Parts: sequence; structure tokens; C-alpha cells
Amino acid sequence: MSSLDTQTRGRTSRGRLRALDAYLCHAERELLSRRDGPWARAVFVDVGFGEHPWTTLESAEAFRALQPELTVVGVELDAERALAARAHADAKTHFRQGGFELPLGDDEPVRLLRAMNLLRQGPPERVPEVHRTLGRYLLPSGLLVEGSADPTGAILTAHLLRRAPEADAPLVREALLFHTDFSHGFAPLLFRDWLPRDLRRRVRPGEPVHAFFAEWGAAWEAARVSGHTAPPDAFHEAASRLAARTGDVEADAWLLARGYLVWRPREGISP
Ligand SMILES: C[S@@+](CC[C@H](N)C(=O)[O-])C[C@H]1O[C@@H](n2cnc3c(N)ncnc32)[C@H](O)[C@@H]1O
Repeated sequence: MSSLDTQTRGRTSRGRLRALDAYLCHAERELLSRRDGPWARAVFVDVGFGEHPWTTLESAEAFRALQPELTVVGVELDAERALAARAHADAKTHFRQGGFELPLGDDEPVRLLRAMNLLRQGPPERVPEVHRTLGRYLLPSGLLVEGSADPTGAILTAHLLRRAPEADAPLVREALLFHTDFSHGFAPLLFRDWLPRDLRRRVRPGEPVHAFFAEWGAAWEAARVSGHTAPPDAFHEAASRLAARTGDVEADAWLLARGYLVWRPREGISP
């Protein structure tokens, strides 16, 4: 265990990260399916799968629809959870005990790394180092997804961090993903308590994430005033207005119709 690793509870639930799987299959199709050069061996790693490996197995199924040969590695700090998960292992699905210094072989470059609901406790100051540590395992242009979701996955946010193409370049804080299934209605501030660890206390004046929520809130109010009152409709209309006004929000129809908003400021998500 390194100094960055800390024991946490293992709560998870079936389907909690399904919406994230669907987003990745839509938006990262090439990342998940490419097989040129080292990508032929490149794995998906789910860090901290919890007391049951359900989300890892669900992602394996979703991603293999795009790339049937995909190797999936679930990593868990808790030795008993890692051992119990081995009952679900097969030739392409592995469960290993380990922490942020990932237990991977030299022949296992990483295309996609997911670390969901691991950093909710602990100081926000350790987050950049966790990102840096995990990012070292990614192939150039590989993706780290780190964030939080509520217990059922109805509300989810995640950093999308990309390894730059140049060797040894730092991770780029490319975008912030928001998703809701509308079961709790919708207002932009619904996401505040489920922001990634390093942003949760940053929704305050002077911070870019605060300015973003203010703009989103104003677009949402304007959408409702103009008759878009049902939560999915208000979400769609507000995001479309925001995309048209700022250019920092993706206007992809598939995303907006399904409760996904991707905030991709030109300057990246500030650390
Ligand atoms: C709350 S569960 C999250 C499970 C699943 N990822 C989800 O989103 O539902 C967090 C799990 O991450 C594990 N964990 C915490 N820090 C870790 C680390 N540094 N490396 C690997 N696993 C870690 C904990 O042992 C725990 O089982």
C-alpha cells in the first residue's frame, strides 16, 4: 500500500455505472475498439470495484460489444474483496489486489482507466497526485475517468483526463461529464454534492466551476420560463442554450437526449 492509498467502504450497486458505460461506448468508440500496435494488448482497468465486482463485469460486457477481445482488469485495495471477485474471473477478465500503483504487467498497457467513487473521503489535495500516478499507466491518448455517483447511479459526474500524445506529457483535464437519469428531477445544482472530490468545495465565487454553474442555472431558468418545464426537456433546452452561447458544452443530440452534459472549456478544467 502506498501513502496515496486509503481504505474506504466497498459499497457499490448493480447498474451504478451503466450510464458511464453508455457514454464511453458512444463518445470513446475508437479508444475502446482500436487494435493497432500496442493497442492490441491494451486493457481496461477498473480501480476500486468495491465489495462486489458488478460494475466491472457490466463494463466488460458493454465494452466487449465494441471490442470482443478486450482484456479487463479489476483492481481492489481490499484483499478479501479482490479474492472473492476471482470467482468471476475468466481468460479475459482478471481481479487483482492492489492500489494506485497498479498491479499490471509490462505487457498490459492501459487504454482506459476508471476510478469511480474512491476519493469521496480524504483530502482534496491528494487528487492531483492520484491522477498523476494513475496517468502514468495510460497509452498516449488513453483516458482516465475519475468521479462520483450517488448510490444508484442516478446522478453522476466525472473528470475526463487524457494522456497527451507526447511521451511523459502530463494528463490534460479535458472535460467534466455530468449525467442524470431524471429520477430526482433536474436542476443544475443537483450535481453539486456529487462533483469529483477536488471540485466539490470549489463552487464558490471566483472559481470557474462556480461561473459555469451560474451560467447553466441561468440557461435552465430561461428554458423553464419559455415553457420547457419537464426535467428532460428543461435539461435539453438549457444545455442547447449553453452550447450556443459559450461553445464549451457539447451539443451532441445523442448526449442531450439522454441526460449527458459534457463541459469542455478551451482552457481545460482548472486544477
Ligand atoms: C465505494 S467503493 C466503489 C465501488 C465502485 N467503483 C462503484 O463506483 O460503485 C470504493 C472501493 O475502492 C476501493 N479502493 C479505495 N482506494 C483504492 C485504491 N487506492 N486502489 C484500489 N482500490 C481502492 C475500496 O477498497 C472500495 O472497495
